[in-house]
Amino acid sequence: MTQATTARYNLLGLDGVPAGELAALLDEADGFVAAARNRETSDLLAGRVVANLFFEASTRTRCSFTVAANRLGASAIDLSGLGSSLSKGETVLATALNLEAMGVDAMVVRSARSGTPHLIADAVACGVINAGDGRHEHPSQGLLDILTLRRRWGDIAGRTVVIVGDIANSRVARSNLHGLTTLGANVVLVGPPALVPASFMKITAGPGRVSIDHDLDEALSRADAVMTLRIQIERHGTDDGGSIPPDYRRRYGLTVDRAASLPPEVLVMHPGPVNRGVEIDAEVADDPSRSVIMEQVTNGVAVRMAVLKRAISH
Ligand code: CP
Repeated sequence: MTQATTARYNLLGLDGVPAGELAALLDEADGFVAAARNRETSDLLAGRVVANLFFEASTRTRCSFTVAANRLGASAIDLSGLGSSLSKGETVLATALNLEAMGVDAMVVRSARSGTPHLIADAVACGVINAGDGRHEHPSQGLLDILTLRRRWGDIAGRTVVIVGDIANSRVARSNLHGLTTLGANVVLVGPPALVPASFMKITAGPGRVSIDHDLDEALSRADAVMTLRIQIERHGTDDGGSIPPDYRRRYGLTVDRAASLPPEVLVMHPGPVNRGVEIDAEVADDPSRSVIMEQVTNGVAVRMAVLKRAISH
């Protein structure tokens, strides 16, 4: 859900965002791709401060919000659980209210708990951006994935994206599902039955179709792009730390042999971090002829520039 008023703009999820609003945001992000690639800066947000509140680990999202802020002339401050007064028992909400009192212009929030960015957005006056909340959504990741496909294809409507992996625990899958189907792309969700709940068929509304398949090779026969996802054992809630399902790579990994059977135009994606040799072979992840994984990362800076501009300029 986004909330745009004259007072502020939040990006809390892609669920319910109309196609026109998604397209406008992607257009704006597209306009920042050259700046992201060429390391160009502007003073559009000079003097403004972005607070990165990352209560869960991140490399790409946190750093690219910082790079995006810097490219627009804003500065970014980082706060995590370790090294902040959260470790002394201060709550997430109190933390956000203290940062608001310091006058930050936007908050970028990641949390292992679904709903934390929404809780903060209800309490503060500045724009709040969800940088990934539990299993719920990761809207800037969904946008950068869709931007990457749109730049390759021109239009994503009618295309088919296979998303394979730990769908049940993936906020990336949820945000992509909402955004892709709203814009008319079809999504095939693939993985072991325990990791691809049938309820996912119900969480989307849009012209694009959603289907579930437990046979990756069959699903790949329909793919224009395949997005591989990590098994997120940290969200499986087991006492023993969790484990990768037996035989996972053979059945659901994008192996060299499997990739070799795909038509050359099929794109390979991954949001990162990548477990090479598990959900995708290193040679496939690094294949310059079809892997767009690093393009996703660069486009992420452009998307975050567009989102920060909206969150702070409003
Ligand atoms: N894709 C993604 O969210 O990566 P990080 O966890 O490193 O931010």
